[in-house]
Amino acid sequence: MNVPFLNFHETHQKLKPELMAALEETLDSGQFILGAQVDRFEKAYAAMMGADEAVGINSGTSALHLCVRACGVSPRDEVITTPFTFMASSWCINYEKAIPVFADIDSNNYNLDPEKVEAVITEKTKAIVVVHLFGQPAPMDEFVDLAEKYNLKLIEDCAQSHLATYKGKPTGLVGDCGAFSFYPTKNLGGLTEGGLCVSKHQEMVDQFRLLRNHAMPDRYTYSDVGYNYRMEGFAGALLNVKLKHLEEWTERRRAIAAKYLAGLKLEDLRLPPVVADAASVYHQFSICHPQRDALVKHLTDHDVATGLFYPRPLHIQPVYESLDYKEGDFPVVEQTCREIINLPIYPELSDEQVDYVIATFNAFEG
Ligand SMILES: Cc1ncc(COP(=O)(O)O)c(C=O)c1O
Repeated sequence: MNVPFLNFHETHQKLKPELMAALEETLDSGQFILGAQVDRFEKAYAAMMGADEAVGINSGTSALHLCVRACGVSPRDEVITTPFTFMASSWCINYEKAIPVFADIDSNNYNLDPEKVEAVITEKTKAIVVVHLFGQPAPMDEFVDLAEKYNLKLIEDCAQSHLATYKGKPTGLVGDCGAFSFYPTKNLGGLTEGGLCVSKHQEMVDQFRLLRNHAMPDRYTYSDVGYNYRMEGFAGALLNVKLKHLEEWTERRRAIAAKYLAGLKLEDLRLPPVVADAASVYHQFSICHPQRDALVKHLTDHDVATGLFYPRPLHIQPVYESLDYKEGDFPVVEQTCREIINLPIYPELSDEQVDYVIATFNAFEG
């Protein structure tokens, strides 16, 4: 049996008539930038997650940048985030010439450790970018408390956490604002680039709408430095077709995760935590094992593809040399980078494939 790391071909074939119809409708409407399809998507996404409004953006990276802008981050402000994430969680800080400050993660959930975050807060700290990595919500009560105690803005990177909830609240609406990505591999994967901003504060939502469209409240009047971060009509149209399936796809991811959690058994294996208050949507199913490389080879030899997110943490990336971090600064992150394996998890994965992954995994003799 062959288990690819990701395979959405069949889903796209099944949805092809609807996807093509949506493209045709957009083509005929002549609304290629924003427009009715994007409007519809914003309303449907907001309704699905329980937000009043949502603002369609051209990528998750741009959506994060708008969150940083809307939080009023200025040059030389410090913004704390995790070194164990995709680079865009931190780029958004650089885009405003602010300084990324890193803190170590909690070995249990791969997310920032609130105590470690508190230890690096200074008078210059303006915001925290919390990443709900792999679809597992971070412990938001602790971050909300920190934000209140030190008067900080709280940004949620929800690129991997569509429909994930913390104490019943959707990620993105717990902090001040949140950014989603619809990159094709995400839980709601578009067929183009795409992103979205949400906030519980109406003024921030208004900022998102203004800034994504050149900060142009009236035609050819510019009230601020704006961007071309608009969602395209085709992106909205295709996402409308796929959004209808997101809840069912999320349940399927959870069912696969439950099978993995019950079935995977190896000495020294670290499984992802199941936190009742923080309902994961399993964008990734990530495990840690001290013999990671041998285990990956064993799985590969038996046609089980694996991912490796993330092999190199942000604090020791060449681009951040001038921040003066060094190897050893964040031991939990660094150990995780050495030991992590991401197993295949996507709605199209069959029960037989999952059983095969489990059996192959458990047959590893280190
Ligand atoms: C954690 C995280 N943040 C931000 C992004 C950026 O999103 P995009 O690729 O849509 O710009 C991604 C994904 O690519 C991500 O995984």
